[in-house]
Amino acid sequence: MGATVKLALAALCFVYSALAGPLGEVFKSSELPFNDTAKLSRHLQLVTNSSSELLRKHTESSSKPSAEELSRLIASRDKNFTNVLVSSARLASGVNRQVADGDPIAPILTRRALLAYIIDRWISLGSKPLSKGADQALASIVKELYGSHLSSLLRKRVVEYLHISKSGGTSFSYAARYNRCSMPGGIGQPQDLGDVPRWINRTAFGQVANGARVTWSMYGRVQREGKATSCEERLSYIDSRRYQYVSNEYTLHGGEADMARTHVCDNVINIVTLRDPEKRLHSHLHYMLAHVKRAVQRPRFSRGADLFHTTFCTSNRSVWEAVVPAIMDNYMVRSFLGERGFHTPIWGVGPTHVAVAVRLLLQFDLVLDLDAGDEAADLVMQQGLGWGKTLSTVHARSLDKVSTNHNYSSEECANEQLLRAVLPRQEPDRQLYRVGQTVSFLDRLLLALAGRLGLQPLQPPAAAGGGAGAARVAARIARSEEGAEEEEEEEKGVPCGLLTIAREMHGAARGGKATWEETGGEEEEETGGEEEEEEEEEEEEEEGGRRMARRRRAAV
Ligand SMILES: *[C@@H]1O[C@H](CO)[C@@H](O)[C@H](O)[C@H]1NC(C)=O
Ligand SMILES: *[C@@H]1O[C@H](CO)[C@@H](O)[C@H](O)[C@H]1NC(C)=O
Ligand SMILES: *[C@@H]1O[C@H](CO)[C@@H](O)[C@H](O)[C@H]1NC(C)=O
Ligand SMILES: *[C@@H]1O[C@H](CO)[C@@H](O)[C@H](O)[C@H]1NC(C)=O
Ligand SMILES: *[C@@H]1O[C@H](CO)[C@@H](O)[C@H](O)[C@H]1NC(C)=O
Ligand SMILES: *[C@@H]1O[C@H](CO)[C@@H](O)[C@H](O)[C@H]1NC(C)=O
Repeated sequence: MGATVKLALAALCFVYSALAGPLGEVFKSSELPFNDTAKLSRHLQLVTNSSSELLRKHTESSSKPSAEELSRLIASRDKNFTNVLVSSARLASGVNRQVADGDPIAPILTRRALLAYIIDRWISLGSKPLSKGADQALASIVKELYGSHLSSLLRKRVVEYLHISKSGGTSFSYAARYNRCSMPGGIGQPQDLGDVPRWINRTAFGQVANGARVTWSMYGRVQREGKATSCEERLSYIDSRRYQYVSNEYTLHGGEADMARTHVCDNVINIVTLRDPEKRLHSHLHYMLAHVKRAVQRPRFSRGADLFHTTFCTSNRSVWEAVVPAIMDNYMVRSFLGERGFHTPIWGVGPTHVAVAVRLLLQFDLVLDLDAGDEAADLVMQQGLGWGKTLSTVHARSLDKVSTNHNYSSEECANEQLLRAVLPRQEPDRQLYRVGQTVSFLDRLLLALAGRLGLQPLQPPAAAGGGAGAARVAARIARSEEGAEEEEEEEKGVPCGLLTIAREMHGAARGGKATWEETGGEEEEETGGEEEEEEEEEEEEEEGGRRMARRRRAAV
């Protein structure tokens, strides 16, 4: 370990032990995304700079606090940390105004820009213990920022989870189900939204695999095949089914012609989980190997085992580049680029693509980091969404389980040479991931601080617009749940947390009489995941088999 790193580590340890007070405790126990302080500071500044830059470009952000106020604060780089907090608190007191003005993105950008600025200042000013005044100012900042998060969620009501394949998305979707969110079957991808993954180039696969066919081979179908395409159409489709949760395993929206026009749907709550890109790629590659092995070993391909070993299991780079180009080349960045950008020719992903992806990532309501562990995800689920169940209750499938199913083991086909060749080329994904780690850290820090202050998601502070109403609705739902005697012990609590409260409040606001009993958290009986779907789909080999299989099940 270099002397500088050691020094930096010593400084951080000192910092932590020196902190006092309840908020200091949270700082102390929050694991930083990077141990290298220079790297941490650089990334915090990047989040601050990019968020405030985006806020400036964001057309609707005429409401206070304005981009100019934020920029002025940031540029001041005040040397007195108490002053930093006092001026930040003044600015934070306007964030709920942005929500009330109906701007879904400005509060997110403002919240992260402010928090990143505060943490960066705190570290660069020597991470001193907080004075009483500073502690108070921080408490009021947390209250405002957390309140803006809650009231923004209450307005949006529906989660669209960006499921980047092999990044923990199956667990997250199962968590939504265990928390009794109303959602489509399996992992929550309604067929009509066209959000299925684009992994395999079917033509290229057929060419190297003697005409064998395989599912999940939609790479090349740029356009979403669905009834609902625009964000408005998507939301009204989701609302018509009374879903509270959907997952999108393709890419972001609106970028069919040009990735510069790609956007998040700002009428829904956007959540994404990121994962270390090397681990992700490793996992995806082996998953593909298991999948391909099964496809080529069907009885009618008599030489299937040979084909698998000679073609797919030999680190033959040209085969993999032709068959799964997006997986080989920075799949995580592609997931943010929209339809056209996702289909960037192999090895075409570079700095301009990373910049687009970062801009979109910063607009997500919540960013999770799979490598930060289950506790981190639980914090987001519980304090961020008001879900009662934790990830430990979710038994997601593991690669091993799938391997048994597919008669495949990752030792069988290490493809080490292939990995050695392609891993170094995932720098765009690594850059995006580092920003994601920073953003995810900021989100968790805010949630943890809010928790420490006793702020609860189902009882939003008065600062959150309609907070009192939400608390009343939560209490009513919880009471009605307790009253339902047939409910299992563990079924108590508000199903799907904030999202159900949001729906009730929204229904009431529109004069509707929707109640939890009517809307139901478990309309979909189905508990099967991708695995069962796959079994079923494998039997359906013709074009569109996946969708037909789903339709049949939907009809049952
Ligand atoms: C930072 O250092 C601590 C202690 O040395 C270690 O436990 C932790 O995993 C490190 N975190 C990262 C992100 O490297
Ligand atoms: C952020 O902006 C400030 C000036 O506004 C600049 O000094 C700093 O280098 C920038 N940091 C990064 C990481 O872009
Ligand atoms: C920082 O500013 C506060 C007032 O905001 C003041 O009370 C305090 O003495 C200042 N601290 C230093 C080290 O100058
Ligand atoms: C898929 O593979 C075929 C055959 O290699 C190729 O001609 C085609 O351009 C590929 N499609 C895309 C979208 O790259
Ligand atoms: C890789 O596979 C392609 C297509 O099957 C084949 O033409 C080529 O010779 C293989 N390369 C090596 C190094 O085996
Ligand atoms: C599993 O694969 C091996 C070769 O990799 C083969 O010999 C064996 O018969 C397969 N088992 C099943 C149950 O398909």
